[in-house]
Amino acid sequence: MQITYNLKSASERRSEAFEPKENVGFGELRTDHMFLMDFSDGQWHNPRVVPYAPFEVAPGAIALHYGQSVFEGAKAFRHNDEEIYTFRLDKNAERLNRSADILCMEGVPEVMQLAGIEALIDVDRLWFPLQEDACLYIRPFIFATEDRLSVSPSEQYTFCVILSPSGPYYNDGFSKAIRLLISKRFHRAVSGGTGASKASGNYAASLKAGKVAAEYGAAQVLYLDASNQQIEEVGAMNHFHILKDGTVIIPTFTDTILKSITSESILDLGELLGCEVRQETVWLDKFIQDIESGGIIEAGGFGTAAVVAPVGSYIFEDRRVLTVGDGAVGKHTKRIYQVLTDIQKGHISGPKNWLRKV
Ligand code: PLP
Ligand code: COI
Repeated sequence: MQITYNLKSASERRSEAFEPKENVGFGELRTDHMFLMDFSDGQWHNPRVVPYAPFEVAPGAIALHYGQSVFEGAKAFRHNDEEIYTFRLDKNAERLNRSADILCMEGVPEVMQLAGIEALIDVDRLWFPLQEDACLYIRPFIFATEDRLSVSPSEQYTFCVILSPSGPYYNDGFSKAIRLLISKRFHRAVSGGTGASKASGNYAASLKAGKVAAEYGAAQVLYLDASNQQIEEVGAMNHFHILKDGTVIIPTFTDTILKSITSESILDLGELLGCEVRQETVWLDKFIQDIESGGIIEAGGFGTAAVVAPVGSYIFEDRRVLTVGDGAVGKHTKRIYQVLTDIQKGHISGPKNWLRKV
């Protein structure tokens, strides 16, 4: 793939003068450039790195009306050797195409995704926040650009990648356990729908639930299946809980749960973590009983942006509160967070090929 470059001059580049703030938030900053590539006449063409700027989209573009749009979220880390390493980016590339397939969209060959992302990081490598828990957050996305109002798959798309030097997704980072609202009113996905994809519309549909969760003092809704019997996941992360003996349980992936790369990594790391990690169907009634009886001692969420987000309590629509353990961040959750982030930052070595030097 021959990538063309239209780069900002040294004086136009903000990265030259980038003084990382003490605490960079999640997703607020942008780097100087973005990667773009277009699909038409049955093929991807014109891969290019250009200045980060608004682009033109036809008002009738299918993405704007019928939501043919999918995205990914990955991270790159700077190691002690000053080099930048992406974490499991091949898995994100694969999943972007799975999401595209679910929405009847054109996928981007994985090698092209990786080449485009690496070219972009290479150009903007100075944009690396220096704070302890920082990363370069990578946001690839594909959206339908054909200007047509009939409801059928677009024949034109744009693949774009932007970068965001980021800190933790939740403001308190890992230090404070969050609360989740267990709601029987909102559902994220139904079988046969788009739940296993990172379709933009899934996130639009979670906004009202998020607003209601905030009214309950909760960070997010913990979604149940359509019959309100099983625990599925949170709007931007998978859910997990930890039994008294340290076993980590993640709900079994179904077509209503996004197959989280963080969860898959934790499943793969079982041995390094020193505990069993497994997936099973999580029944809400049993989950509540086990928390009340002390059989479940910790819980939380796994996701790229959220990393490992400890959950200290759940609140129900009748405002009843269910506290997990003592409500604070537990020792098993701390260990999982430590091992995962140590691998990402290159402090300890993890499985082969998880990190790719840019
Ligand atoms: N579930 C949903 C709905 C998400 O949006 C995310 C975030 O990407 C996750 C789970 C976690 O997936 P991953 O660990 O691959 O980021
Ligand atoms: C990620 O974890 O990368 C995600 O895509 C979640 C996002 C909605 C913040």
